[in-house]
Amino acid sequence: METNEQTVRALVQRSHRGPKDLSLTTDLHLPTPGPGEYLIRVGAAGVNFADVMQSHGTYGGGPQPPYVAGFEAAGEIVGVGPGIERPLPLGTHVVGAGPGAFAQYMTMPAAGALPVPPGWSDAEALGLVLNWATALAALKPLGEVETGETVLIHAAAGGVGQAAVRLARHYGARVVATASPAKHDTVRALGADDVLDGRRPDLAEEITRRTGGVDLVLESVGRATFKTSLSVAKPFTGRVVVFGAASGDATLTTHDLVFTHQVQVKGLHIGALATAAPSLYQSLLTEIDTLIAAGVYPPGTPQIHPLADGPAVLQQLEAGGTHGKLALDPWR
Ligand SMILES: NC(=O)c1ccc[n+]([C@@H]2O[C@H](COP(=O)([O-])OP(=O)(O)OC[C@H]3O[C@@H](n4cnc5c(N)ncnc54)[C@H](OP(=O)(O)O)[C@@H]3O)[C@@H](O)[C@H]2O)c1
Repeated sequence: METNEQTVRALVQRSHRGPKDLSLTTDLHLPTPGPGEYLIRVGAAGVNFADVMQSHGTYGGGPQPPYVAGFEAAGEIVGVGPGIERPLPLGTHVVGAGPGAFAQYMTMPAAGALPVPPGWSDAEALGLVLNWATALAALKPLGEVETGETVLIHAAAGGVGQAAVRLARHYGARVVATASPAKHDTVRALGADDVLDGRRPDLAEEITRRTGGVDLVLESVGRATFKTSLSVAKPFTGRVVVFGAASGDATLTTHDLVFTHQVQVKGLHIGALATAAPSLYQSLLTEIDTLIAAGVYPPGTPQIHPLADGPAVLQQLEAGGTHGKLALDPWR
C-alpha cells in the first residue's frame, strides 16, 4: 500500500468556465479508499463528453469546482477500503468509474469495478463500462433492436457511436449513421450502410427518402438533431433512445407527442441504470463478456495523450474535432 505522504499528479477543474480552467497540479495527497472503495493506480483514464459537460457545470449532479476531473479509469488495485465483502486481490487490474480519474491515483467504488479482460491492457479496457454498456443498453433493453430493423446512430464516429455501429451491425440491423464528413471513412469501415453529414439541412428528408422511416434512433446530439430523430422514427413503433445532448438541450412537449411525433421516447443514463436496475445492468455486463469472447467487441484502441494535454483534448472533444475513444496517461 502506498503512503499518503506521497503526492499525486492530477488535473484539477477550477471553475465552471469549461476546459480552459482545467490545469495540472503535482501536489495532491494520495487519496485514502473509503468504505467500499479500492485505491487504484491509474494506468489510463478515459475522456468522455460528460467531462466537457462537468467542466461547464451542465452535467446533472456533477462535481463543484475545485475538483479533480475525470471519472473513468482502468488501473491496478493498490489498496482496499473497509467493508468490501470479497475484494479482488491487490494487483488486479480493473476498469470502472469514480471521481477524480485524471490523476495518478484515484479511489473507485468496488461495486462497479470490473476486471480488465484477460490479455488486455488498461487502455484497451477503457470504454467497457461507459461507451459499450451505454451503446448496448440503448440498442437492446431500451431500443429492442431486431434483425432487419433500421437504426439511426448520431455521432457515429465518437466513443459511444463506434461501439453502437459495431453492435447494431452484429444484431443484424441496417445502420444509418451521421457524422462530420471527415469522419465518414471511419464509420463506413465499421460497417454502417449509409453515412450522412449530421449537419446537412435536409437530413430528415434524406433519411426518410433512403429508409422510409427508421425503427430506432440513438439520440445523443440533442438540439441539432432531435427534431430530425423524432420525425424519421416510424410512428407508434419507432423508438428514440435519448442519452446525450452534445449540441445542447432540446425540448419535447406533450403536444408534440400527441399531434406531431407519435413515437416512443426513452431516456438513458448508464450510471442511473446500474443503480436503479442492477439486474438489468448485470445482464448487460454478461452480454459484454459474450461479445468480447466472440470478438465482436475487440480491445479498444484509444488515442492516448499525456495528462498535461487533457485541457486541449477536452477542448477538441467539445468542438466535435475528435473521433473514437480518447484517453490520458497520468504517468506521461
Ligand atoms: N447517458 C449516458 O449514460 C451516456 C454515457 C456515455 C455517453 N453519453 C453521451 O453520448 C454522447 C457521446 O459521448 P462520447 O463521450 O462518446 O463523445 P463523442 O461522441 O466522442 O463526441 C461527441 C460528438 O458529438 C458530435 N456533435 C454533433 N454536434 C455537436 C456539437 N454541436 N458540439 C459537439 N459535438 C457535436 C460530434 O461528432 P460529429 O463531428 O461526427 O458530428 C462529436 O465528436 C455524448 O452526448 C455523451 O454525453 C451518455
